[in-house]
Amino acid sequence: MSETAILKYDGQEIELPVVTGSENEKAIDIGKLRGGSGLITIDPGFKNTGSTQSAITFLDGEKGVLRYRGYPIEQLAENASFSEVAFLLIYGELPNSAQLEDWNTKLSMHTLVHEDIKNFFLGYPSKSHPMGQLVSIVSSLSTFYPESLETNRSKEENDLTMIRLLAKFPTIVSWIFKKINGHPIVYPNNSLDYVSNFMNMTFGHRTESNNEVDPILADAMNKLLILHADHEQNCSTSTVKIVGSSHANLYASISAGISALWGPLHGGANQAVLEMLENIKNDGGNTQKWLDKAKDKEDPFRLMGFGHRVYKNFDPRATIIKKAADQVLDKLGVNDPVLEIAKQLEEAALNDDYFKARKLFPNVDFYSGIIYRAMGFPVEMFTVLFALGRLPGWIAQWKEMLEQRTPIGRPRQVYTGSNERQYVDVNAR
Ligand code: CMC
Repeated sequence: MSETAILKYDGQEIELPVVTGSENEKAIDIGKLRGGSGLITIDPGFKNTGSTQSAITFLDGEKGVLRYRGYPIEQLAENASFSEVAFLLIYGELPNSAQLEDWNTKLSMHTLVHEDIKNFFLGYPSKSHPMGQLVSIVSSLSTFYPESLETNRSKEENDLTMIRLLAKFPTIVSWIFKKINGHPIVYPNNSLDYVSNFMNMTFGHRTESNNEVDPILADAMNKLLILHADHEQNCSTSTVKIVGSSHANLYASISAGISALWGPLHGGANQAVLEMLENIKNDGGNTQKWLDKAKDKEDPFRLMGFGHRVYKNFDPRATIIKKAADQVLDKLGVNDPVLEIAKQLEEAALNDDYFKARKLFPNVDFYSGIIYRAMGFPVEMFTVLFALGRLPGWIAQWKEMLEQRTPIGRPRQVYTGSNERQYVDVNAR
């Protein structure tokens, strides 16, 4: 028998259906609430609001579980390739070998970016943030593919746009990296797999004919990208979907998601973590002093890379990344003092009553920056790498949203401003 919830208000009872997910998650469907009662709900930050039913990613924040299409993140990070995970997220099933070959071929056929995009780099100030560049270049792809602006496109046309974006994104990211270093760009080498090609365009040199991608770095990058690939209805994904719900094109929708990711409370935290660790190191390495700062309500400082809206026990991605950070630094022979500071800070925070009471644990961003830095990325590139990883998730969620014929995203509000008043001429005010 289907469950319902009863809302009592103003002498009336309104019966609202309860929706149950495949992992037994429950939600009250308030679709008939306003019509039946005149009430709306209010929930700043959507802490209690489910915006959708989705079959893509399952997350149990209490138990620290994360699964893409049912597959545990630990298994995917250990065994899968990033392009395989992208297929899984977007189309719902792991590809068989023929499908995977076809998918990888399609992804490598579209890696080239229009040469005119290079002109963009002449316009950016030399110290401009790579995320600002990424937002504008991705949005500008729509100007090179005007057919992507049309609504009611066929499945094949939509697929082509998704593939184009997935294929070109690593090229764009590597060009941004090269340009901030002042080095010549490296064109795609389509005989390489998705991640190796990205690493080659990023760390390879046009002047050397026998560029070899370091398998340790390619493996670590593959893992990092998989760990970031989707995270259900987070801030940037919700942004992609809200923008997409107006039927704005994919490039515009993803570009909006990149903007949302940039903030230090979201993907921008990976840059903020490294800057924080550097500050602690330069300040003498007194982790307790910084913990106290984070606890002081008069001080705006927060422990970056700690806390999560949904995870209240541990972030499974952080567990994998911490292990990977040790391995990568070890294999590369890098001795980064901030790794030690990060571990001390984590240890101290996990034993601190403030952090324990609020269930604040290291999140995905706490250790990822240490790996990126060991690979040779400057801190400003960290969030760009998060975006590269998150791209398949954004695309999958955008596609699902359109397939569900989701109405335009348009929340309501409770107005708290002035009541009606009369205009007064400027001289009489
Ligand atoms: N340092 C110190 N105190 C914190 C922190 C922190 N990092 N995070 C939360 N708190 C406190 C907060 O002050 C509040 O305390 P009180 O109840 O006394 O007012 C309590 O914990 C709950 O915090 P909240 O801000 O209500 O929690 P939220 O769910 O709205 O925010 C968060 C989640 C991730 C934005 C927040 O924990 C935060 O700002 N963390 C630091 C930034 C960060 O690492 N972001 C990356 C998130 S993971 C990657 C991603 O998916 O984006």
